[in-house]
Amino acid sequence: MRIGVFGLGKLGLCSAACFAAKGHQVVGFDSNPEHLAALMAGACPIRETGLEELLALARPNFTVTDAPDAMVQETDFSFIIVPTPSRSDGRFENHAIEEVLAVIGPALRGKNDFHVVNIVSTVMPGSCEGSFQPVLERLSGKNCGTDFGLAYNPEFIALGAVIDNFLNPDLVLIGASDERTGRLLTGLYRSTCDNEPRLAVMSLINAEITKLSLNCFVTMKISFANELAAICEKIPGADAAVITAALGEDSRIGPKCLKSGLGFGGPCFPRDNLAFQAFAQEAGWEACLAPQVVRLNHLVTERLLSLISRHLNPPARVALLGLAYKPDTHIVEESQSLHLARKLMAAGFAVRLHDPLALDEARAVLGEGPAYCRNACDCLRQTDAVALLTNWPHYAGLDWERMHFPDGHHPLLVDCWGILKGRCLPNFRYFSLGLGPRHPVIGPPLLTGDNPKLTLIKPHREDGAAWGCRGISR
Ligand SMILES: NC(=O)c1ccc[n+]([C@@H]2O[C@H](COP(=O)([O-])OP(=O)(O)OC[C@H]3O[C@@H](n4cnc5c(N)ncnc54)[C@H](O)[C@@H]3O)[C@@H](O)[C@H]2O)c1
Repeated sequence: MRIGVFGLGKLGLCSAACFAAKGHQVVGFDSNPEHLAALMAGACPIRETGLEELLALARPNFTVTDAPDAMVQETDFSFIIVPTPSRSDGRFENHAIEEVLAVIGPALRGKNDFHVVNIVSTVMPGSCEGSFQPVLERLSGKNCGTDFGLAYNPEFIALGAVIDNFLNPDLVLIGASDERTGRLLTGLYRSTCDNEPRLAVMSLINAEITKLSLNCFVTMKISFANELAAICEKIPGADAAVITAALGEDSRIGPKCLKSGLGFGGPCFPRDNLAFQAFAQEAGWEACLAPQVVRLNHLVTERLLSLISRHLNPPARVALLGLAYKPDTHIVEESQSLHLARKLMAAGFAVRLHDPLALDEARAVLGEGPAYCRNACDCLRQTDAVALLTNWPHYAGLDWERMHFPDGHHPLLVDCWGILKGRCLPNFRYFSLGLGPRHPVIGPPLLTGDNPKLTLIKPHREDGAAWGCRGISR
């Protein structure tokens, strides 16, 4: 198939590379001249796992152009993957999409072949039929559904795993103006995905609502796990990780995104939740769950601040490990780590920061207040507390067991994801989120069997100064 892509950013460039690597003929256009020039020169201006290698593989089928109207003439699909920033009321701004439609509409006027205009950018429900379709019909002089097709086809990908998620989706969501458009897009994805995903083809409005609902539901699962963790922290012997692992085994619930930790952040979940609330209000319904989900997410960093404040007084030094909103990316947008850093600094703590990829991005947001450390061990040197925030595998691999601090100093170690649970950490006062006080040392595991997810109970203690290795096995 011949595909034109408008917007070669974090999602657009990866999508273009995936289609081209699978043998489709792809042309791309981006309105940022420097970005376009870099791509024309053969560079890869986006940092994403595996993208450079995939682009090299895809190059024979991938070109970039500065003539977007000709791109419409020469292709079967126009994918629109441009920014739709959030407004202060939570709704998305469609300005960049409208700029693209102003190119596509007139180009369709002179085109005889059926062409699919596919909106991938996240939009408010009602945008496709209420706004984009009339604009395209007016500018092209043609009818949507017979002369050209309009589709809404958002992606559910996580930065750092965009290519893998794109090629192996659980679900391909396709809202289509007509049956032919739905068929063309399902054919395109069947010939591109490595797996055999569920293809959900529906009307434009249903797809628009599905996209927001799905992300909003995921944030609800995350906040449920975090509320459970907050409760477990008050119950002797309770462990939220054991409970959520068992809950996830029930097919009505499922294990994904049901893990307590630092909460959600990034460029999609927080704003999609707010857009869902704005959409509900516009429809005449006051959303009840979604605002509480956001509140619970804020409470995670409040819990961390109060845990640290209970044990240390400002200006004690606090090292934060992990600043990106998730592992494998440098993106710090809506990162919970940065929210925590701000709260700690406002409370008077001296904050030290480390991240394998996101240090410069964090500095651009937080300025020169904190100390920025290129090396995790430098960050830990001379600290009074450590919070393990982003679940980078690198952090689990540090030699925590043999870390020593001068003068019998025992820094507080707060482990948001339980990655060090069960390890012998003689020189730290260890706390894991979601773990109750006086967690008992248990002999044989309570749950055993073939399923490793259920064999989670490990000997563990966390009673501060008396903490030692005796009775702990790994
Ligand atoms: N990145 C993600 O994780 C993700 C996931 C799901 C959905 N989305 C949605 O996809 C859309 C794009 O996100 P992104 O992260 O790729 O954004 P991005 O900012 O990384 O890239 C957008 C690109 O579009 C270009 N652009 C802007 N206006 C243009 C125009 N008129 N014509 C051509 N190019 C134009 C920009 O120069 C930029 O390179 C957004 O609506 C976002 O919500 C993103």
